[in-house]
Amino acid sequence: MPSILITGASGFVGGAVVEHFLRQYPKNEINLLLLVRAETTAAGLLRIRTNLEKFGLNSQQLASINEENILIGDLSEPEAFTQDPRIDNVTHVINCAAIASFGNNPALWRVNVDGSLAFAQRMAKVKSLQRFVHVGTAMASMPDKDSVFYEDMPDNAHNEDLVQYTASKRAIENLIREHCPDLPFVVARPSIIVGHTQYGCRPSSSIFWVFLMALKLKKFTCQLDDKIDVIPVDYCAMVLANLCLSEEVKHNFYHISSGEEMCTPFSAIDESVAKANNTSAIVNDYQQISYQEFTGIRKQFKDILGPCNDKIILRAIKLYGGFAELNVKFDNQRLLDMGIPRPMAFTRYIDKCVSTTQGLSIPELMMVDFK
Ligand SMILES: NC(=O)c1ccc[n+]([C@@H]2O[C@H](COP(=O)([O-])OP(=O)(O)OC[C@H]3O[C@@H](n4cnc5c(N)ncnc54)[C@H](OP(=O)(O)O)[C@@H]3O)[C@@H](O)[C@H]2O)c1
Repeated sequence: MPSILITGASGFVGGAVVEHFLRQYPKNEINLLLLVRAETTAAGLLRIRTNLEKFGLNSQQLASINEENILIGDLSEPEAFTQDPRIDNVTHVINCAAIASFGNNPALWRVNVDGSLAFAQRMAKVKSLQRFVHVGTAMASMPDKDSVFYEDMPDNAHNEDLVQYTASKRAIENLIREHCPDLPFVVARPSIIVGHTQYGCRPSSSIFWVFLMALKLKKFTCQLDDKIDVIPVDYCAMVLANLCLSEEVKHNFYHISSGEEMCTPFSAIDESVAKANNTSAIVNDYQQISYQEFTGIRKQFKDILGPCNDKIILRAIKLYGGFAELNVKFDNQRLLDMGIPRPMAFTRYIDKCVSTTQGLSIPELMMVDFK
């Protein structure tokens, strides 16, 4: 029976991965071990169950996770949890944990790089280990503007990281390859994960608020016909589970993305959000303006968005605007070759993201991305 260690299970992607396993596999077919930060096993279990509730699991499914499934630990101090004897029976890892914030988190390098490397080095010694799926981020490739990025392309050394987060994600992949040559290492780089096809933004409002903010301001730094490579979190989880257990995995690197054909134009996001809100699209009022021009209208932010710190809004516009302007698509041929279907188009589940964020302000929604 596979014994799957999942890190980051109290978060957005890791929570969706656990949801996937609980829905798709009977309890006696897989064993889950979930790394979580907490003072006690009981507190860790509570954190995991509280997160899983956001994914619409019923009480029986929630009860199937118990204290035996909990591994208390912190990636900034991996020496403690990596001594747990259950680690020696692990057959598969899905490593979702990371500081996935665009903010200046002082622990970023310690967790995403140093601690994650120590964890991978420990797992490389586990005799039963068959696969270690590491969740990266497609933006770590530093893609060129208006490009399609293919899975066999090397990361672009000629561009700069927009945030330290992407630099840390690229560094850890290279370090694991260098220091753990025998680890059965598979990197999966998702593009931009927004919402859940069934539960909208209930599991997390991550990034969805950027679209809402731009629509409220009727301005952003990209053009309305630029496109964005968005996938839902439940699709990402299904793919990660496949990359973990499937025998069809032939490569050690995959994009989890919508690919060129399924990328969503911002104009379609505008239309779909308007339809869900029963209002008109802003297409005729929209203006593409630069970050510099935004600094000139910063005093208007609170009138349009409600009480907010204009400095934080400006910083968000700079960071997320930088990614939006790239207009990049990530090719997903390797998953298609495995017979994995394309993700659901963002516009088909935007209504669920709209309804699950109703009544919440932009400053409230954006907090999740600035931890
Ligand atoms: N969301 C996206 O659009 C996106 C796109 C591409 C790639 N990714 C990648 O997907 C992965 C998961 O991201 P996410 O969106 O799910 O982020 P998230 O919701 O913030 O979840 C991050 C998870 O990592 C855990 N974690 C953070 N620091 C830790 C530490 N010191 N020790 C142990 N666990 C720690 C968190 O635990 P706590 O609950 O205790 O903080 C949480 O469970 C990341 O590797 C990220 O780079 C995300």
